[in-house]
Amino acid sequence: MKFFVDTANLEEIKDVQALGILDGVTTNPSLMAKEGIAGDENVLKHYKDICDIVSGDVSAEVISTEFDGMIEEGLKLASLDPKIVVKIPMISEGIKAIKHLTSLGIKTNCTLVFSAGQAILAAKAGATYISPFIGRLDDTNVDGIGLIHQLTSIFQIYGFQTQVLAASIRNSLHIVRCAEVGADVVTCPAKTIHGLFNHPLTDIGLEKFLADHAKMNKS
Ligand code: G3P
Repeated sequence: MKFFVDTANLEEIKDVQALGILDGVTTNPSLMAKEGIAGDENVLKHYKDICDIVSGDVSAEVISTEFDGMIEEGLKLASLDPKIVVKIPMISEGIKAIKHLTSLGIKTNCTLVFSAGQAILAAKAGATYISPFIGRLDDTNVDGIGLIHQLTSIFQIYGFQTQVLAASIRNSLHIVRCAEVGADVVTCPAKTIHGLFNHPLTDIGLEKFLADHAKMNKS
């Protein structure tokens, strides 16, 4: 399972990159706004800066909601760096744009996926990734992990190459549950990845090992 970090914050990306386990980055307009990135030139430069940090795929989202605009933005984004994946919303114009960009050899990530039907449409259009938002589904009393499981099963039956990229991850257990049901990728904030380290028995055990070593090696 690949680990992507879901942020536009360069320090947060560097932090996970330093662990040596980072496979890519996802961003969205809300995450860009959180970093105060505005204006076409600044946005494009920021994506370049992210690409300079990581070696894997970097999802950059279009703002247009109609086909022509999505294609124009998608081509501009894709020309920045081969790592760029054009992120496109799950709407009918988006499906047409995914189909077109895929035919040009451009990677796509279909975002705002909340149902198996939507995911099937995106896979048939040839999306490189689909992003089901599991935390936001959980918020509505729908089992987000259940959707990931449903999608990995369907994609396996039909041999779809589209990768299931679990997004809107809210806690470390979500990551483990995604691994259990075969998600191809999880994208999460750095703090959620760091949460995987936590176990009190590790802390207690390490403290004891160091204390015993210190006891026997007094100078
Ligand atoms: O990048 C999309 C997704 O991960 C958003 O997560 O926490 O805003 O639901 P969240």
